[in-house]
Amino acid sequence: MKPSSVYIETYGCQMNKLDSENVAAILSAGGYTVVVDMHEADVILLNTCAVRDNAEQRIHGRIGELSSLRRGKPELLFGIIGCMAQRLGDRLTGVVRIVAGPDSYRRLPDMIRLASSGYIVDTVLSCEEMYRGIEPIRNDDHSAWVDVMRGCDNYCSYCVVPYTRGRERSIPIGEIIDELERLKDRGYREVTLLGQNVNSYRDGDVDFAELLDCAADTGIGWIRFLTSHPKDIDSRIFDVMARRGNVCNHLHLPLQSGSDRILDAMNRRYTVKKYRAIIDQARTRVTGINISTDIIFGFPGETEEDFQATMNLMEDIRFDFAFMYRYSEREGTKASLLPDKVPENVRIERLKDAIELQNAIMRSKNREHIGSTFVVLVKGPSKDTLGWYGFTETTIPVVFTAGDGNVGKGSFVNVRIEDTTGASLIGRAV
Ligand code: SAH
Ligand code: SF4
Ligand code: F3S
Repeated sequence: MKPSSVYIETYGCQMNKLDSENVAAILSAGGYTVVVDMHEADVILLNTCAVRDNAEQRIHGRIGELSSLRRGKPELLFGIIGCMAQRLGDRLTGVVRIVAGPDSYRRLPDMIRLASSGYIVDTVLSCEEMYRGIEPIRNDDHSAWVDVMRGCDNYCSYCVVPYTRGRERSIPIGEIIDELERLKDRGYREVTLLGQNVNSYRDGDVDFAELLDCAADTGIGWIRFLTSHPKDIDSRIFDVMARRGNVCNHLHLPLQSGSDRILDAMNRRYTVKKYRAIIDQARTRVTGINISTDIIFGFPGETEEDFQATMNLMEDIRFDFAFMYRYSEREGTKASLLPDKVPENVRIERLKDAIELQNAIMRSKNREHIGSTFVVLVKGPSKDTLGWYGFTETTIPVVFTAGDGNVGKGSFVNVRIEDTTGASLIGRAV
């Protein structure tokens, strides 16, 4: 029997979420039905992440779990796509029959056909593939991911992304704006512009600040962007943020470490001084700006002093949110060759201390919001179903109750904050 239905499960970053929506569109156009119940599927695809070892271990575990489905359905096919597929290629064996990297998705319909009678791998990276001309089948009716660039050329010494996603390329501005216009016409309220380093966006003379300004012209409700790199960020984007009401006052600016020595070993190409200067500029020019970050703990050579420098900087800057990780060694990266590995238990200990510090900062920041009113984009009913949940423009999660007013998924609602759980705000629609 020819496989005709596909189930896609997505791991990893926003770029992967968008890619899964592109894959759904490619497969639908190729004659397959994309199903939401894996039990109805002839093919199960896992769109994977390779950024840390535990992301990959999780996938190995998931493959083991899912392979039991073959007992009742021996013809069921498994495919691994995404960054882990790119990284491991034909080292992925066992029940896996399809391996497709991030630039190979247009060939998936054919690969699935061939997989019925064999094992098929395609991990050719392309400098041109940008999945243009494909209308992603989106999983959300109100918020959309829109990529403005693909790939990464930065080669931070710990990171696999330049190897799994290949060279950096920018999508022409005309195509991005057309897509935003289409999304607006379809009722989308929020778009997030995506790239591994949006600040190096270039289309002829157009840079990211200009792209952001043009994106704001479309009039779409909320515009966000991810990720900024301190070495390339241009302060003009703060002017755009301040001037344009629909560009959200949120900046995600990965710090990675608060020690210049470690930043240098990470090949980040900025100093703590430069990072601080960007934060000062952002806070001066954009009132109420929310700043989030990524930090890695236990990078090779990180001493107790380096770690304290990071903690002190966190205390000084008081990030609104931080994604924090313990360093994970990735095969083939420069950092994997560095001496002075930090023992795993020390990495865990440092991460734990940092999470505690950040939680305390967040609790106190969120307490300061009690009594304020925020516009919230409603994502759906809250878990306890007594009310609703959504996010502020500055990405703080909010749970709130409402009368019979005009509240529904995808609406913007004014919410007065009455309490906080620490990480999220609790309020009432006004
Ligand atoms: N291009 C984006 C996303 C990169 S992955 C960026 O530069 O921010 C997201 C985060 O994962 C990184 O910012 C980094 O903090 C973390 N990360 C990447 N490689 C890692 C590794 N080997 N070990 C631990 N954390 C890592
Ligand atoms: Fe990885 Fe650095 Fe590129 Fe981000 S900018 S994807 S951390 S290499
Ligand atoms: Fe994203 Fe993970 Fe790949 S973070 S780019 S899916 S390695």
